[in-house]
This record gives sequence, structure tokens and C-alpha cells, in this order.
Amino acid sequence: MHCIKKIKDDLFWVGANDRRLAMFEGVYSVAKGVSYNSYLLTDEKTVLFDTSDNAVHQRFMENVAFALKERKLDYLVVQHMEPDHSAALKELLAMYPGVKIVCNAKTLVFIKQFFDLNFNFEKDVIIVKENDTLNTGAHTLKFIMAPMVHWPEVMVTYDETDKILFSADAFGTFGALNGALFSDEIDFEKDYLDEYRRYYANIVGKYGDQVQSLLKKASSLSIEMICPLHGFVWRNNFSAIINKYSLWSAYQPEEKGVMIAYASVYGNTENAAEILSCSLREKGIKTVMFDVSVTPASEIIAASFRWSHLVFASTTYNAGIFISMEDLINDLVAHNIQNRTVAVIENGSWAATSGELIREKLKVCNNIKILEQTLSLKSGLKEEQLSEIDAIAQAIAKDFPQENIPASISKDEKPAFIDNNALFKLSYGLFVLTVKEGDKDNGCIINTVMQITASPLRILIAVNKANYTHDMILKTKVFNLSVLSESAPFQIFEQFGFCSGKNKNKFEGYNYNDRAENGLRFIKEHANCMISGKVSDFYDYGSHTLFIADVTSAAVLSEERSVTYQYYFENIKPKPQPPKDSKKGFVCKICGYIHESESLPDDFICPLCKHGAEDFEPL
Ligand code: FEO
Repeated sequence: MHCIKKIKDDLFWVGANDRRLAMFEGVYSVAKGVSYNSYLLTDEKTVLFDTSDNAVHQRFMENVAFALKERKLDYLVVQHMEPDHSAALKELLAMYPGVKIVCNAKTLVFIKQFFDLNFNFEKDVIIVKENDTLNTGAHTLKFIMAPMVHWPEVMVTYDETDKILFSADAFGTFGALNGALFSDEIDFEKDYLDEYRRYYANIVGKYGDQVQSLLKKASSLSIEMICPLHGFVWRNNFSAIINKYSLWSAYQPEEKGVMIAYASVYGNTENAAEILSCSLREKGIKTVMFDVSVTPASEIIAASFRWSHLVFASTTYNAGIFISMEDLINDLVAHNIQNRTVAVIENGSWAATSGELIREKLKVCNNIKILEQTLSLKSGLKEEQLSEIDAIAQAIAKDFPQENIPASISKDEKPAFIDNNALFKLSYGLFVLTVKEGDKDNGCIINTVMQITASPLRILIAVNKANYTHDMILKTKVFNLSVLSESAPFQIFEQFGFCSGKNKNKFEGYNYNDRAENGLRFIKEHANCMISGKVSDFYDYGSHTLFIADVTSAAVLSEERSVTYQYYFENIKPKPQPPKDSKKGFVCKICGYIHESESLPDDFICPLCKHGAEDFEPL
């Protein structure tokens, strides 16, 4: 019997759940089952988004037939060819002759690899590429390529009419739907976040750059619903999942704390790991522990994406790392784990090698700091070695204040001097936002800053996602803000606002070399105050991210008036000059960029200052 869910009058979930599957992809245990989502749009033309896994194909076919109400199927959009979404393709084509497959060129290669089809590929396949559209009556579907999220052929589809993103594997989760369809019908944080993380880390964790690229493309869309191929449909509170994706794909931890994974044959290595965990807890540090011999690797991989510090404790086995620990370390390296502090404990009754071998394997990972403090056991832990465990715990504790993860200022963290008068300089003005990642300094102009609370002292800033500075803040969570004053020359706006710092040093050739206590640059001249912030939270708002930050220092630099947006337009920004040949076009009111064209598309973005079409006016 069919079991479908209505999403909108002309959009239905026609997928199915599998609670019998022992191992998803043959690797990942799915104790709570898994859903294979498929969506049917019943516009003037009918469109099916992907098919299903073999395990549920019967229910899926019943669902499609019921939702179609005896109409024919016009299009099958194949977004992802992994068989959990495509196994029923052959049966579907047989059931609905005349259906046209909509896919990209790579997908077609995979279709031919997976299936021997009696199908007219020349006539009945519509090959699409980036931003191609398909009109189905009331709806226009735009196709957006998302390679390696999670296979190379993956694309997502944006319904421009209803502002729905059909997101393929992105934003999915393990777990059957159990009668609910929308994420607001479940307790995401309490009941499902762990499974979302386990799904992300294990399925697409390796492809952080590609996920970031998709997030960037999605940020330019106005989205009212996200329909993934697994798990729940999102129709509100998008920041809950997008914020997690932003962190996970940047390989930034979600929480300060220590994940301890141990491999212990007779309990001695476990004993040392337990004592370390107790010592860390006594220092107020959160810990979680996993025995790698009994905990599925996928759970430990997910925990490694969650926590800031990792400890691996392993006995030596056949002159190498214990089997399950070696598998785990290989798996973590394969999943591209980055930006973590690691401590290693080894055990070996006659020739301990596991510690050095673990260190060697982790060396290939980006920005993994391996602590010098270590412990080498010969069989059992001895009294005199307790100090070595304590040294590891102390080194981890010492490492905490220097981390770059979202957190409020802790009670024992003494902020630098804060002059509250600096906060009085905030207006609807213009600000230079400066950041630093490694040796790279960068900055951009922003126009939205406000104080939101006094105790703790917090501010909010809005940063356009198109800015490289945005991505750097997402990673480092620390910034400086210089409030520009009325004496600011146009040169500052050009320098920080009209070019990207991705391939350019924005500070080169200019005397903006002052640094605050946090080591980041700020603008001393033509700014009347400087505020340092440490991000405690952030929210995705389409084109911009709102960062909430604790003020860690604030200083007044001058008594000049803050420049307002109005002042900038009237007194600083040069008036745009029409081109001498009087070509038709549009000029950006913000930066003066001229786009020579008869018309300006609604989604046009200024290549210089990244403002939208609404900020352009005809020449
Ligand atoms: Fe759910 Fe990559 O397949």
C-alpha cells in the first residue's frame, strides 16, 4: 500500500524507509534505519526527483503511481547516481515509457555503467549544466552542480517558483522518518544531531571544500525549503543545519572537549586512558571515551568532527598499531580530519611502536598539532608514570585558551581593556572588519554592526558570504572592527571594499599595520574606535552570516564623528561618470562599477563590492 506525504499542493514525498538494513553502504551501522527520499512534482509536467534503493523499490513504485493519479511521468531528474537513489531507475523507465531523463553528462556516463537500458539516449535524455533551467508549467527548475557532495556527478535542483532546494545527499541524515517528514516535527538537537553529524562526517566528511562550494552557491539563493535525499525536509530554522555544515566542512570543532579513543587488549591501556579522562574532568574539561574494538568507527569519526582535542591510546600489536585503532586512524586521515590538537598514548610489553606509528599517519593531515607530552606503557601503568598522564592533561588544558572554536569568554579568561565609550561610536556606518588566519591578514568593509547586550558585552555583525573575510572568520572566530570616521578617504573603501583578499594582500603598500592584543590588524587612522570580537555564535541569513561576538577589547582612537552611510554617499564616494561613448548601462551606487548592458538581471551581483541589482541605477 502506498505511503506518501504531501509537502505542497503539487509536491509529494514518495520515498520509503528501511529499518532492516544492517550496514549502509556495507560499512555504516544504521540502528535507527534510513530513509530514501524521492519527490514528485505534479506541475503541468510531472517531475520525479531521483528514485530509490532496491530494498524499498516496491513501496517507492506504489508511492509514485499513487501520487501521479494515473498521469504520465514526464521527467525523471537524476541528481545522484549512487544506487541508494538510483537502483529503481530501470524499473521506473519500464513502468513509465516516454519519460525523459534530466541529468548532467557525468550522470549519463554512470547510468550507462550501472544499467543496460533499452533507451533512446539521444532523444530521451536532457543533458543539463550549471544554471540550466527547465520549465514544467508553473515551476522553473534550475540545476546547480555539486560535484563530490558526495559523488562527482551530483547536482542539486532549485525550484525558482517555490524556492525549494532539492539538495541530494547534502543536509541529509541516517535514521528513518518514523511518520514525521519535516525537521520541525522532531527534536533536532536532542534526538537527531548525532546522526546528522555521523552521516555528514562519514559520507561527505572528506569533501569539505566541495561542501563549502555548495554552501556558497546555496547562499545566493532565496531558500524556503530544503528537500534532501535522506532524512527530514527543512522548511524553517535553516541555520540549525547550515551552521553545522559550515563548521563541519571547515573542519572546525563544534565543542571544546576531548575525545579519547583507546585500543586495549587486557585493560592496561584503557586504565591509562581512564585516568587521563579523570584528570581532564578535574580540570573542568569535557571528555568522551570510546573503546575502538567495540564502538563502530563511524561513531568515533563523528565524535572526532565534534570535539576539539583528540587522544589516541593504543597497544602495540604485531609490531604495529592495534588493528581496530589502525583502521580508525586510517579512516580519520581518509576523512580529512584537520585543525585538532592530538595526544598519543602507547603500550608495548617488549617493543612499543604504536605511538610513533600513529603520529606518522596523522602527519599528513592539515593543522594537526601533536602534543610532545606522551605516555609509553610497558604492560601496566606504574605509579611513577602518573605524572606523565598529568603532564598530558596539563598540556591539553593549556591548549584550550588558544583554540579557535566558538565559545564565550570563560570566567578565568581575562579580557583586555574595554572602553565602553568605544561602543557609543557605533551607528549605521561603515566599518573595516579585519581578520587573520595563519600568516594571512585580510579585511573588508561592512555596514552592519550593533551592540546587542551589555553584560556580557556582545555585538552583532553581518558579513556578506561572498567576502573572503567571511570565510576566514568562520574558521578563526576572531576579528577586529575599526569604526571609520568622516575623515576616511575613498582610498580605504577601494582598498578594503572593491577587491578580494583571496589572492591579494590588502595591506600591501598602506600604513595599516597596527595590531591589537589579539594579534589582528586594525585601522588606526581615519577610524575613531577599535573593537575586538570573539565569535560565540553565528546564524545563516542567505547572502549574509550574522556573527554574535563577545567584545574582548575596545578602545577609542579619536573624537571624530563616525562616518554614516549617508555621509559616505554625499561626501566621500566620487560621483560616477558616464562612459564617454555614452553606452547604455547601469552603475553601482555603492562602488561606482559600471555594467554596460541594455538590461540588468535581478540576480546581478556587483563584481567589485558584491551588492545586488537593487543598488544599481541606470546611467
Ligand atoms: Fe545517499 Fe551518496 O547517496
